[in-house]
Amino acid sequence: MHWIAAQMERTRAHFPALQRSAHGRAVAFLDGPAGSQVPQCVIDAVAGYLRDCNANHGGEFDTSRRSDALLEEAHRAVADLLGATDPAGIIFGANMTTLTLAFSRAIARTWRAGDEVLISQLDHDGNFAPWQLAARDAGVVVRPIAIRAGDCTLDMDDLRRQLSPRTRLVAMGAASNFSGTINPVAEIVRCAHAVGAEVFIDAVHYAPHRLMDVAGWGCDYLVCSAYKFFGPHVGVLWGRPDRMEALQPYKLSVAPDSLPGRWMTGTQNHEGIAGVLAAVNYLASLTPTPTPASRREAIVKAMELIAEHEHELARQCLRGLRDIPGLQVFGITDEARLAERVPTFSFRSAKISPQEMARRLGEAGIFVWHGNFYALPLTQALGIEPAGAVRAGFLHYNTAAEVERLVEALRALA
Ligand SMILES: Cc1ncc(COP(=O)(O)O)c(C=O)c1O
Repeated sequence: MHWIAAQMERTRAHFPALQRSAHGRAVAFLDGPAGSQVPQCVIDAVAGYLRDCNANHGGEFDTSRRSDALLEEAHRAVADLLGATDPAGIIFGANMTTLTLAFSRAIARTWRAGDEVLISQLDHDGNFAPWQLAARDAGVVVRPIAIRAGDCTLDMDDLRRQLSPRTRLVAMGAASNFSGTINPVAEIVRCAHAVGAEVFIDAVHYAPHRLMDVAGWGCDYLVCSAYKFFGPHVGVLWGRPDRMEALQPYKLSVAPDSLPGRWMTGTQNHEGIAGVLAAVNYLASLTPTPTPASRREAIVKAMELIAEHEHELARQCLRGLRDIPGLQVFGITDEARLAERVPTFSFRSAKISPQEMARRLGEAGIFVWHGNFYALPLTQALGIEPAGAVRAGFLHYNTAAEVERLVEALRALA
């Protein structure tokens, strides 16, 4: 048995929400793609901030100094999570969507008529609409990259075809929140940089499943959201520090001109950022002893262990779903290709609407989402609007027994 599965009881004990039951049975939280549950240490960190060092920035008194020290440590922790060398490149904000709307407006100031931006139909609307809006305002051309609808993967040939010296930015997701497909991020970056384009990665769905590595990938910008990786509702934007210094954000003149403050508009959600720090430290703590030399090393190991566990859950889920009559499963279903997906499954049945299926699963204590999950470009491309699909997503705290329970319940519905 793999390490995460062997530690499951201890791991689940960290998450108070997982103790919830419905009709005398534990709830199966398969709603993780819309937001993970949080461990007690994150809850304590949020409350602890408000209790012990609740203060604004830069004051000449104890609680403000303690608050600033804690926030600086949160920048360092998220840099470790992303594999970034400079914590000043870490920007906190409300959520991915708000940060991307602000960033897209700022970067669009550098675009000129005739420039092009590439986006993908595999993406959440948060990495689609902001670029369309910014491109419209700047008068530049947006080119959507084709997808292979059969397995919900990006058409890399189309990406290579559409890249040109006119391309200024390629905005792609690291993993789809609908089909779980993992995009070849390093390859996308190589192709884009070869024509002088920059790359913006949406790692919101990817973050709780696999190692983020901005230095290894070589991307220029990345966004993610802590509420998907066991933290509170806080968004993160990272950019190459030289670019984040050169670009001009929409900001108040009284706000700092230096990084990271120039991008962090207004007073931040300090207690939430304290929770983000705790969430990163929680992830780092998932490694077996002996303790690794650095937090980054611990995170690298933890994400390997998470991937191992999630592969097993994905394999089991695919085998179970395959045998359910009338169930259409979107995305990669070939067990030999598990490395190309995370355990997020969207499916639908010819017999029962996604909403009804989610309702019945909810009644059975299995919490799943239905609809398009804001992955609207993809659900439109798949022709399944407006009903969409049902989505069940597994995180490291989910178990083989929960996979079995989902499969059994779907079999009963079929
Ligand atoms: C892949 C992906 N990108 C972007 C977002 C938007 O993130 P946020 O809610 O932080 O704005 C989500 C949210 O579900 C997502 O799954």
